Amino acid sequence: MLNEKVKELLNNQVNAEFYSAYLYLDFSNYYKDAGLDGYANWYMVQAQEERDHAMLFIQYLQQQGESISLGAIDKPDKEYKEFIDPLKMGAEHERVVTALINDIYAEAFAVKDFRTMQFLDWFVKEQAEEEDNADDNVTKFELFGSDSKSLYELDAEMKTRVYSAPSLVVG
Ligand code: FEO
Repeated sequence: MLNEKVKELLNNQVNAEFYSAYLYLDFSNYYKDAGLDGYANWYMVQAQEERDHAMLFIQYLQQQGESISLGAIDKPDKEYKEFIDPLKMGAEHERVVTALINDIYAEAFAVKDFRTMQFLDWFVKEQAEEEDNADDNVTKFELFGSDSKSLYELDAEMKTRVYSAPSLVVG
């Protein structure tokens, strides 16, 4: 059995990851409507990854013999005025998620829950990649997004991203 607080934080993370999926789906829809199919693809893949993250937390809780309590997922309420806005919001959002993962890690550490810490190690590493990718998206857009030819090429590059399930996902 998990410590109550650790269990609560892990359960909350299920919701946070599904919210991330929802937010990125909203980004994807925005780009699709704007005709930027590459950016739409990139965030569609990202939404799929976030759903996988949620499933990993569910899977881990169930492996520990815990029940899951699913909460309502908030509606993404962002307004996008320029194409760069979702990119900046995505980078900001990933830092919030990193802080959430760190909080669970700190709680697990406090109660010597080494199993949960080991489970979270994958997410600690993943968050470093997620922040890096999100920052890259902002930097590239700042460098090249202002003229239409370069934006066309950037969008084509974003279209090449392909979904693959994280190796931790079972089934
Ligand atoms: Fe599940 Fe993008 O963090």
